[in-house]
Amino acid sequence: MSETTHSERTDTDSTIETTAGETIEQVQESWTDYKFQGEAKLTSEGLDVYYGDDHALKDVTIEIPEKSVTALIGPSGCGKSTFLRSLNRMNDRIRSARVDGSVQFDGKEIYQEGIDLVELRKRVGMVFQSPNPFPKSIHENITYGPRKHGDIETGLLARLLGRDDWDEAEELVEQSLRQAALWDEVADRLDDNALGLSGGQQQRLCIARCLSVDPEVILMDEPASALDPIATSKIEDLIHDLAEDYTVVIVTHNMQQAARISDQTAVFLTGGKLVEYDDTDKIFENPESQRVEDYITGKFG
Ligand SMILES: Nc1ncnc2c1ncn2[C@@H]1O[C@H](COP(=O)(O)OP(=O)(O)OP(=O)(O)O)[C@@H](O)[C@H]1O
Ligand SMILES: [Mg+2]
Repeated sequence: MSETTHSERTDTDSTIETTAGETIEQVQESWTDYKFQGEAKLTSEGLDVYYGDDHALKDVTIEIPEKSVTALIGPSGCGKSTFLRSLNRMNDRIRSARVDGSVQFDGKEIYQEGIDLVELRKRVGMVFQSPNPFPKSIHENITYGPRKHGDIETGLLARLLGRDDWDEAEELVEQSLRQAALWDEVADRLDDNALGLSGGQQQRLCIARCLSVDPEVILMDEPASALDPIATSKIEDLIHDLAEDYTVVIVTHNMQQAARISDQTAVFLTGGKLVEYDDTDKIFENPESQRVEDYITGKFG
C-alpha cells in the first residue's frame, strides 16, 4: 500500500508529539501544489530562512495569485512572519537572518544584487500587528511616504489620477483615507496627531499610509489581532475590497477570519514547513493533512 491514510498514521504507540501538540506525518508534495487561474504575483522556490543556527523556514515553494487574499495560518513560531518578511526582504534588517532560495515578484528575482529595496518595499508594502503611525499629524502620516519617494513633486499622483487641477497632496490624503475606510472619521481633524486616534483607526491609518505610495502587494501580519470586534470587522471588509486592486497576503491566528476573508490559505506547521495550500474552502472543509485538520479544529497549536 503506497498511500498513507489518516487512520494509519495515528494508531501507533510510537506517535511523536511536537511541542505544539501535533503528531508526525509525511507531507505530500501534492498538498501544496495549488492550481489557480490567473497570474502569480509572488513566487517562492525552495526558500529557507535561518536565524543563526535556527532553521526557521524550510524549503518553501509557493505561488501567490494576484489580486486576491492569501491567508497564512499555523501555530506560533512556525515561520509565518518570517515568510511574510521574506517577500519584501524585510528579513534583511535582522542581523542573524540568512535567506537561501528564490522569491520572484512579477517573475523577477528579488534576492539578487542591484535590487532597489526602497522601491521593492514601496511596491510590496507592509502593515504590522500593532499600529505604528508616526507621531505626526494624520495628514503628514499619509504624505510622508510619497514625499520621500518624490511622487508628489514629480507629479506621479496627477498622472495616476489623470488630472492636475487640484492640490495633489490634499487629493492623495483624501483618496488614501477613503480607500482605507477612515476618511469619514477623520476628515475634520487631519492636522491632529495620529497618536490620538483609537487603535482601530490607527491601523486603518497605517493601511492608508501603505496605500499612499501606490503599492501592488500589501503584506499584513495579524493586522486585527489587537482590535475589538467592530474595528476588526472594518479591517476585514477593507481587506476584501482591497483585493480587487491589490494582492493581499495576511497572517492571522483567527481561523474564522481566514475562512471569511481569504481566497486561498497556506498552512505552516512546526518546523517551518508549508504543509498544505489550497482554496480556503478546501482547507477548512476537507484538508488532506490530518495535522492541518487537527490544527483547524483546535486540537493543538
Ligand atoms: N529576529 C529573530 N531572531 C531570531 N530568531 C527569530 C527571529 N524572528 C523569528 N525567529 C525564530 O524563527 C522562528 C519562526 O518565527 P516567526 O516569528 O516567523 O513565527 P510566527 O509563525 O510568525 O509566530 P507567531 O504566530 O508567534 O507570530 C521561531 O522559532 C522564532 O523564534
Ligand atoms: Mg508572527
